Amino acid sequence: MEKKIRIGMLISGSGTNMEAIVKACEKGTINGDVVFVGSDNPAALGLKKAEKKKIPTFVVYYAEIIRNFKRAPEEHFFPDDFDLEDIKIKQSLIKKKTSTKKISTFIETRAIAEAALLEKMSAHPFDLLVLAGFMRNLTPYFIDRVNTTPGKPRIMNIHPALLPAFAGTDGYGDTFRHGCKVGGCTVHFIDYGEDSGPIIGQRSFPIEKTDTIESIRKKGLALEYKLYPECIRLFAEGRLTVVKMTYADAKGNLSQRSVVKIAQVQ
Ligand code: GAR
Repeated sequence: MEKKIRIGMLISGSGTNMEAIVKACEKGTINGDVVFVGSDNPAALGLKKAEKKKIPTFVVYYAEIIRNFKRAPEEHFFPDDFDLEDIKIKQSLIKKKTSTKKISTFIETRAIAEAALLEKMSAHPFDLLVLAGFMRNLTPYFIDRVNTTPGKPRIMNIHPALLPAFAGTDGYGDTFRHGCKVGGCTVHFIDYGEDSGPIIGQRSFPIEKTDTIESIRKKGLALEYKLYPECIRLFAEGRLTVVKMTYADAKGNLSQRSVVKIAQVQ
């Protein structure tokens, strides 16, 4: 039997995915333990749920960090290993057309918060970092310090839509407002863009005429609670690898993309 994996988790809200994952670990469906739950939001309900389970928790209060920085940027110190230009080049979270000042402030505030996250996380060694309703984008500053082995990403996210459709903060709402006849959820590895990383798994559900945003969210969440533990189990079993695929488009132009390959059980 493979070694148990240590799962770190970041949340922002109610933490119902976190509960599903903790339950899957307790049942042994995932050969792993949740070793910490961190949040950007001190009021996240999920923090209390984690504490009840005796899981170590911490908060890095992003909203306060951002507010303080904007009030008095000169009072802030950047992490020693912070390289704004390197992050600017790598990131594809913000459109390059955005003003340089806005891009810099975004990256600077996030890097200060991310350095604090990394510092808190350093007390709890982990194999996989799971974003479960974590509503903050992570910049290359953070990602490069977690993904230290090339070709072996270890930050997973769940998104409430069938990516690449409806990236962003309101996947089920966007699905509903677009008049989609099918909705779904996606688990993927994080890359330098917004919800753009290699896809590990997806589940879909039909949308009926009578559905509302709320009923769509309910159907979606029920699938999330199955899909996320399944994807984490694949990681724990060492069955996920990310490979570069080269494709030709309709005009014959070649482009490359990282995709997830899932190994069969021997
Ligand atoms: C879930 O629907 C998850 O897919 C979504 O937030 C909800 C969190 O619920 N995540 C995102 O939108 C990430 N961009 P939970 O806190 O009860 O697990």
